[in-house]
Amino acid sequence: MARGELIKKLLASHGRDDEFRAVAELIIGEEERKGNVALARSLRKVLDASASTPAAQSSRPRGLAPLIPFPDAAAELVERIEPTHVLGDVVLSADNVRVLKGLVEEFRRAEDIQRKALPVRSRVLFCGPPGTGKTLTAEVFAAELKLPFFVVKLDRLISSFLGETAGNVRKVFEFARKQPCVVFLDEFDALARARDDASEHSELRRVVNSLLLFIERIKPNGFLVAATNLEDSIDSAIFRRFDEVMWFDLPTKAQIGQFLKRKFRNVQVDVDPATFIDAFAEYSLADIERACLQAIKAPIIARRVKVEAGDMQGAVKDMVRRRRGRARRKS
Ligand SMILES: Nc1ncnc2c1ncn2[C@@H]1O[C@H](COP(=O)(O)OP(=O)(O)OP(=O)(O)O)[C@@H](O)[C@H]1O
Ligand SMILES: [Mg+2]
Repeated sequence: MARGELIKKLLASHGRDDEFRAVAELIIGEEERKGNVALARSLRKVLDASASTPAAQSSRPRGLAPLIPFPDAAAELVERIEPTHVLGDVVLSADNVRVLKGLVEEFRRAEDIQRKALPVRSRVLFCGPPGTGKTLTAEVFAAELKLPFFVVKLDRLISSFLGETAGNVRKVFEFARKQPCVVFLDEFDALARARDDASEHSELRRVVNSLLLFIERIKPNGFLVAATNLEDSIDSAIFRRFDEVMWFDLPTKAQIGQFLKRKFRNVQVDVDPATFIDAFAEYSLADIERACLQAIKAPIIARRVKVEAGDMQGAVKDMVRRRRGRARRKS
């Protein structure tokens, strides 16, 4: 939106806190998108301070209620996470990199696309086994877009929808709709499960339907990213509500190699971590990450300097043991 329009909106929203905050967030988002990170950060500071400090509240003109710092109203359901990773930290398939970059580019050109009455992709589904980087990629995606990143715990949201906090849930979605942000629906399979159960439970059906409606209506002003590791439980009615789907798989050997190189970049080693690529095959990068950290810590604990072959072997052994233990308990 043009800056003049935003300022007009801001002035017009005087006295209506939710709206004022939403417009202020739009202005901040616009500055973030333009790359004016420092300005955006200081604007956010002012905005947050004006909402929370007693001094700010007492100096506020009468009749203007305190701003509700998002997402306090539903802190148990939504968390704002400051991204700590960058795109280079994630090992992704070439397809996923292409899709991700395409979405970022499209978002940057959203206004031009919309001016031609064309839709902008804004709803993305991540599918894949546990520990393959879905949550990490969502975080990095928000960082690339320079948008605030809100993580919604879907299972809690569904259960609280049924309870007393239904109003909070609505607030979360209302706010998320008004400001440019990435809303991440983690554990999205909870929705699919709830949908299955909903046939006998009219209240639950109402909840599931309103969630689906929200997904359908979310504006391209932000992104909705949902992640599931139970692809089979996502039926086609849910599937088609997403503009884009990205699949996450267990890493290839080349990707394991790439990950190890990065992980051991600043670590002193007595062994080439690449010799363990085969041992790590068929494991997720979350498992491999855990094993690497264990191996990297081993010399510190033993008051040595370098990671040795034995440290790596011990960590791999624990990784294998862990998986065997789980498999045994499942069968
Ligand atoms: N593709 C990847 N690239 C780099 N690191 C990864 C990748 N996948 C997993 N990891 C490591 O494993 C950790 C956990 O990954 P993440 O939480 O993103 O997995 P997930 O797919 O969301 O799993 P789940 O389905 O259990 O939620 C990451 O924080 C990172 O350290
Ligand atoms: Mg996850």
